Amino acid sequence: MLSLVVLISGGGSNLRALLEASEDAEFPARVVAVGADRPADGFEHAEAYGIPTFASVLSNFPDRDSWGDALLEQIEVWKPDLVILSGFMKLLPPRVIDALSPNLINTHPAYLPEFPGAHGVRDALAAGASQTGASVIVVDNGVDSGPLISQQRIPILPGDTEHTLHDRIKPVERELLIQAVLDIANGHINLKELATA
Ligand code: GAR
Repeated sequence: MLSLVVLISGGGSNLRALLEASEDAEFPARVVAVGADRPADGFEHAEAYGIPTFASVLSNFPDRDSWGDALLEQIEVWKPDLVILSGFMKLLPPRVIDALSPNLINTHPAYLPEFPGAHGVRDALAAGASQTGASVIVVDNGVDSGPLISQQRIPILPGDTEHTLHDRIKPVERELLIQAVLDIANGHINLKELATA
């Protein structure tokens, strides 16, 4: 059984999907804790499932490294097999990434390497693209630049807003994320090999 720590910043709909998936006794992973960079709305999903939460707020620390160290310390309490950035909107300091790598993955609402960064949906619309997508990657020290685990194309429809497009992307992200967790748990995806390829 793969133990997961999920990091969020917002509503945590992808987290919710993981929690629902793990209600199935056959699902080979369990969320053991949920962390955030703020008291995130998505904590309510963890609480509904009796899963512990922790927050590490950047502004409470003198610098990013000490914030990251505190976050890492809270993650490591749970000795997770895999850490999932699921709508976690802060860049982790390199030493946190190095400590967790390669067992650190991220979901992104675009077809990477297109439209990396905090505004993947908005940037695809602003570029006038006819399609975007969803991606799951291994996290490296760049911005959404790590090795791809999986991705899927999603058309941009006339009249799409950031909101309507993101709402169509999220269900695809959820499927990709759950499949990625399954594949990692079953050994069909080897994160170490991906990260060093
Ligand atoms: C998701 O679409 C996730 O890919 C995105 O934030 C959303 C979180 O939704 N992450 C990024 O844009 C990271 N660059 P959720 O809180 O409802 O799961």
